[in-house]
Amino acid sequence: MRLFEESPKAFLSGEELSSRLGVSRTAIWKHIKALREEGYVFESQPRLGYRLVHMADSLQGHTIHNGLQTRTMGQKIIFREILDSTNALAKEEALNGAPEGLLVLAETQTNGRGRRGRSWISQSGKGIWSSLVLRPEVSPMEASKLTIIASVAVIKTIEKVYNLVAGIKWPNDIVLEGKKIAGILTELSADVERINHVILGIGINVSQEEADFPKELQPFASSLYLSTGAFMPRQRILQVLLQEFEVLYEGFLRGEFASILNEWRRYSVTIGKEVVVDRIKDQVTGIAIDVDADGVLLVQREDGTLERIVAGDVSLRRREGHYS
Ligand code: BTN
Repeated sequence: MRLFEESPKAFLSGEELSSRLGVSRTAIWKHIKALREEGYVFESQPRLGYRLVHMADSLQGHTIHNGLQTRTMGQKIIFREILDSTNALAKEEALNGAPEGLLVLAETQTNGRGRRGRSWISQSGKGIWSSLVLRPEVSPMEASKLTIIASVAVIKTIEKVYNLVAGIKWPNDIVLEGKKIAGILTELSADVERINHVILGIGINVSQEEADFPKELQPFASSLYLSTGAFMPRQRILQVLLQEFEVLYEGFLRGEFASILNEWRRYSVTIGKEVVVDRIKDQVTGIAIDVDADGVLLVQREDGTLERIVAGDVSLRRREGHYS
């Protein structure tokens, strides 16, 4: 499969495939047949060989399970063609006792939710709209760290699958060339001392074209396809995401959050920049100095005072007077 992904438009002959992979022509033929049964579409030409026309792109539970190397994350999956919000169903399941790692997926959401009460556009079949149920045995104060962990997991996933380094705009927008391609919505249910469950909602724009976004969002939103020109199967992205997240999450439970936060800092496109932060009641302008261990953004105003930003929307200053 990798050979086809590396040369998406080219024909690869049975002979070439068999010599590069070191297997017989019959084995190649059987493998192509199996891939076709999974939904991959190949064009075959007598002398030229096979050309991959369309990758299988299903998010049905069994396609995710096939080859998934996690202990808990995504080991149980609920898939629906249509949902109001995967976070909403995951919450319902969590309240009914769903285990840690349950993954809720939908092809489309009619009421996808974003941060700060915004809506999240979830075009059918064009993205990964997913929610994980987590039950970490840590203090509720630590729940915000899960968003940081998830954003690092998304970045690492993009790096592995697309060979591309994306950035994190505080608090947890995943951006490429200044446009948002993924977002995370963490919802917590807790008592004073202990977490009942956390719903970690991750939305990734995979294959949208520009016209799939409303005009007013086009300057700010993009997809992995728009940024890279490559179509990657969503189940592969999701498998890598679950694996990357699980490794980081287990590290967090072992007390290794400091090193995860350092990775977050490395990927941050906010730290060290001049920013304008819109909060509900006011606006803060200054230099983003750092984030602390709780994910709070530290902004130094021009007069030297330090402002701790717990929630807000950040615009980065790119050119004199221009923010994005
Ligand atoms: C943000 O505003 O950046 C957060 C967006 C989170 C979107 C995802 S899509 C899957 C999950 N279900 C939802 O309703 N929202 C999250």
